[in-house]
Amino acid sequence: MLGLKRLALVALCAIESITPTVSARSLFNLRSIQHDDALDKRQSLTQKYCPSSTPGAACFSEFTVAAQKITYRIAIPEVAAAPFDIYLQIIAPKATAGWAGIAWGGKMSNNPLTIGWALPNGGDGSVVSSRFTSGHSAPGAYSGATYTVLPSTTANATHWQLDVLCQGCSKWANGSLNPNGANAFAWAKATKAVANPASNSSSFSSHDGKAVWSHDLSLARVPQSAFDALVAGKSVGA
Ligand code: HEM
Ligand SMILES: *[C@@H]1O[C@H](CO)[C@@H](O)[C@H](O)[C@H]1NC(C)=O
Ligand SMILES: *[C@@H]1O[C@H](CO)[C@@H](O)[C@H](O)[C@H]1NC(C)=O
Ligand SMILES: *[C@@H]1O[C@H](CO)[C@@H](O)[C@H](O)[C@H]1NC(C)=O
Repeated sequence: MLGLKRLALVALCAIESITPTVSARSLFNLRSIQHDDALDKRQSLTQKYCPSSTPGAACFSEFTVAAQKITYRIAIPEVAAAPFDIYLQIIAPKATAGWAGIAWGGKMSNNPLTIGWALPNGGDGSVVSSRFTSGHSAPGAYSGATYTVLPSTTANATHWQLDVLCQGCSKWANGSLNPNGANAFAWAKATKAVANPASNSSSFSSHDGKAVWSHDLSLARVPQSAFDALVAGKSVGA
């Protein structure tokens, strides 16, 4: 009896976690129509996403760019302050996201940029590229962050999905993330494919969409053991 109840609760939680409330959803749509390409720091629409494979123990914070259907999910260990490891997942439509990325300090310049795209020729993987720029020009390679591409990284006919562990994305020369609350992040994407998708140092053209959002990392916190299991691609018991 108790077991069933718990199962139902878990199922409910899973549904809730991927379905924004009606009010949040309409607010979001309204905002995205008016401000999709604007820099609106007031957007604060982080959801909690709990994959059914990791019931209860390992949830992600989630932000979806509604107009672009690009989803960013983040998990971090329960730490007090930066630096900390970050599990980042980006899911993006192939047709409209030749590349998509995140700026960890909420602006284009002087913060680590994590960019992803699909492998060429219908390959079943995605590429991560570590970038940084001091201005509004094509960002070059950034060695201050190191990435491990996780096995759940994939791609199919319609989407690419990048799962990475980033070490170096939470703290940089001019800033750091707050693991317990709101952070200004920025997303950017371009429809046009990158020049050489097999290479993480490929050039790519400028964005055709970008905006800042407020991301609540308190929703991304998971126990260190659950974080380690997530990174190792193991399922975690509740
Ligand atoms: C070839 C690559 C890129 C070029 C040429 C480029 C160029 C520019 C330019 C000219 C602006 C200011 C004018 C405008 O608002 O459009 C800008 C703003 C911006 N870019 Fe880029 N960009 C590139 C890549 C990126 C990447 C990879 C990201 C993040 C992942 C990014 C994030 C932003 C953001 C958030 C802004 C607005 C806020 C700010 O000014 O910092 N850009 N970019
Ligand atoms: C730090 O910020 C200052 C002022 O905005 C800028 O001039 C400098 O280049 C930045 N340094 C780095 C490494 O981002
Ligand atoms: C590309 O991958 C290599 C090997 O993992 C790494 O050393 C390098 O920093 C990466 N470059 C970029 C731009 O991400
Ligand atoms: C394609 O991949 C995306 C991202 O992993 C996934 O959400 C979607 O369900 C996949 N589509 C099919 C038909 O498997």
